[in-house]
Amino acid sequence: MDTLMTNDPRAVIEADRAHVWHHMVQHKPFETTDPRIYAEGKGLRLWDINGREHIDAVSGAVWTVNVGYGRESIANAVRDQLVKMNYYAAAAGNIPGARFAERLAEKMPGLTRTFYANSGSEANEKGFKIVRQIAHKHHGGRKHKILYRERDYHGTTIGCLSAGGQDERNAQYGPFAPGFVRVPHCLEYRAQPEYAGENYGVRVAEAIEEVILREGPDTVGALCLEPITAGGGAIVPPAGYWEKVQEICRKYNILLHIDEVVCGMGRTGKWFGYQQYGIQPDIVTMAKGVASGYAAISCCVTTEAVFEMFKDASDPMGYFRDISTFGGCASGPAAALENMRIIEDEGLCDNAAAMGDHLLTRLQEIKDRHRVVGDVRGLGLFAGAELVADGDTREPVAESQVGAVVADCLAQGVIIGAQNRSVPGFNNTLLFAPALIATKDDIDRITEAVDKALTKVFG
Ligand SMILES: Cc1ncc(COP(=O)(O)O)c(C=O)c1O
Repeated sequence: MDTLMTNDPRAVIEADRAHVWHHMVQHKPFETTDPRIYAEGKGLRLWDINGREHIDAVSGAVWTVNVGYGRESIANAVRDQLVKMNYYAAAAGNIPGARFAERLAEKMPGLTRTFYANSGSEANEKGFKIVRQIAHKHHGGRKHKILYRERDYHGTTIGCLSAGGQDERNAQYGPFAPGFVRVPHCLEYRAQPEYAGENYGVRVAEAIEEVILREGPDTVGALCLEPITAGGGAIVPPAGYWEKVQEICRKYNILLHIDEVVCGMGRTGKWFGYQQYGIQPDIVTMAKGVASGYAAISCCVTTEAVFEMFKDASDPMGYFRDISTFGGCASGPAAALENMRIIEDEGLCDNAAAMGDHLLTRLQEIKDRHRVVGDVRGLGLFAGAELVADGDTREPVAESQVGAVVADCLAQGVIIGAQNRSVPGFNNTLLFAPALIATKDDIDRITEAVDKALTKVFG
């Protein structure tokens, strides 16, 4: 650590233990062990409060710090903006907000309008509300249903959980909002018997059409999908899937809402995940990598055609009556502009593509050495390795064993991830999403740790 904390580590740990309620964590073990506290970061390296160095293979646990830790130029951009003009509600504009929206439009041909908010969940809620208001305004309230996919996640609010395809995430938080309808997942390794076989991608996309026909196309307003399912198991949709999805949406006049909260800003090797597939969404939401965690920002971006539907000035209720207090924080777009400049100037989309290939190669080698690795998949710098007790039946390993692999890597100083309370019985995929600045050496160090951990846990 360059700069030692002025805080006494013991006092900080005790304050945390006594008063902080950590996210997605059972606190009982903290009665006898210390909570983890990170104090400093640089690049892919993180130091905990005791000065122990780690390499972070998951960009801040939830795939966020795309440009790496310790970026002074982003901190400076935020500071400069804050002392000049920190906040005004987004009913008015601010300078970085206008400039970032313009830059986004350049990167997303066909999408022109940015609505600012401050978390991925919130951006998705905006998307859902846009669909609902269009239904009421233009379709007599009928086209209000929103389709979502098994294993996808769109956020933590009750609205987003209503569109949540991960039953363990949802468990105990219902009842949920009506009007959200599930379509099948597209993980070929666990293909549903009715769609398995040749052309799985097309067939499982056609299953979406079956749902639309069952519900009635005049009741369905939108289909919300992750480009690559992230926390649901690193699922890259199979060949033919996206073309069919686009065709179905056009056929039934259904808006395509792509949730780029994880894939956005270079993670898959292009600016946005949907751009891997040549599709044209109507609504795109993004958050994590937009400012790499240097400021809270999320965006719900739409086509001009969607935006135009809210311009009936003769109707006092006809505009998008949505607000997010912190969507007016100018620090978000100030950080996002500099984050985007870094990704562009340092060629980080290309690096994510190249290093992603290297990561998949290394994981594939590990699969060849360890029978417990049943499947390796990913795109760019988002990858997963699914662990199975039996390669033939594909029965998942016990969750405690997945946890043991993650813990062993951590003990080696390498932070990796895994599905967390996501799909019942199938939280068995290790997840990797290092910052887009990762080098071959970084990837090798990460995968060597995984190799050793697998040997230790499974022999
Ligand atoms: C695909 C996806 N969408 C939305 C969200 C929710 O984002 P947030 O936690 O910022 O609300 C997440 C969070 O992990 C996500 O993975």
